[in-house]
Amino acid sequence: MDNGPITSVYFSPTGTTRRVVEGIIAGMRGRGRPFMLDVTKKARRYDSARELKAGPVIFAAPVYYGRIPEAAAEYFNSLTGSGTPAVIVVVYGNRAYDDALIELYDIAVRRGFVPVAAGAFIGEHSYSTEIIPAAAGRPDVKDIEAARAFGKAVQEKLLGCGRAQEALLAGVPGARPYIEPEGLYLLREIRKARPFTPQTDESLCTRCNRCVEACPQDAIDPVDIFKTDNRECIMCFACVKICPVSARRMAEAGFFLRVKEILEKCRERKEPEWYL
Ligand SMILES: Cc1cc2nc3c(=O)[nH]c(=O)nc-3n(C[C@H](O)[C@H](O)[C@H](O)COP(=O)(O)O)c2cc1C
Repeated sequence: MDNGPITSVYFSPTGTTRRVVEGIIAGMRGRGRPFMLDVTKKARRYDSARELKAGPVIFAAPVYYGRIPEAAAEYFNSLTGSGTPAVIVVVYGNRAYDDALIELYDIAVRRGFVPVAAGAFIGEHSYSTEIIPAAAGRPDVKDIEAARAFGKAVQEKLLGCGRAQEALLAGVPGARPYIEPEGLYLLREIRKARPFTPQTDESLCTRCNRCVEACPQDAIDPVDIFKTDNRECIMCFACVKICPVSARRMAEAGFFLRVKEILEKCRERKEPEWYL
């Protein structure tokens, strides 16, 4: 099967998914320049209902509450393939990917793509801090090497098959019905009583507006950057990670207590897994 040009469609608020995708593409070395469709920002997701006839297409997203982030799933669900080979990729923060891979696999099939390979990689947890490190610095050199090796194996598989259907990946780990995203429900409940989003410390803020640019949901008011729309915020922490002076913070102590509880249980390094 002809390999390329490669299209990648990815959602990546803190950049780890994007780096894994770049590693995979480097290993695939498809024909022509890869087309990188970064749908992290809301404005890029208005342009939906695309038809992607040429493959392979890489679908990539982080794992949120054991699932695909709602914003990303909604966009992926608007794409259409016509028997187009697809590579399914999730990136998680060293806890677990639960049903994210199977959810993305199912979306691809429903939308007319043929999943030919899938991978689960590890990226620094969005909530990792110096005090509670979780997969800090990942994907690291070893992870990127693994991403390249995966890309190379995908390319070899595709070149060895006549049609996408011949390369169909029968399944991936995960269960149906999918796990309920409890954390997401809890967040919505808490927000009935209080804002529960990262806030900016006015005394530290240099008004560089990087948080506004980084926010996938345009939740931070560009005119008054101290205002965050809590109905839009998805707690991705893109704003927290990008702030050069650490002015953007989650002030709620209860939040970090819960994060600590979860992350302390998953200190042991997990390694990338892939399915061909
Ligand atoms: C709201 C939210 C929920 C998350 N849920 C999980 C999870 O269930 N399992 C896990 O291992 N990591 C989880 N993570 C961590 C992310 O999957 C991880 O940090 C990923 O590398 C972020 O991707 P990005 O850099 O492309 O944004 C979660 C992160 C956020 C912000």
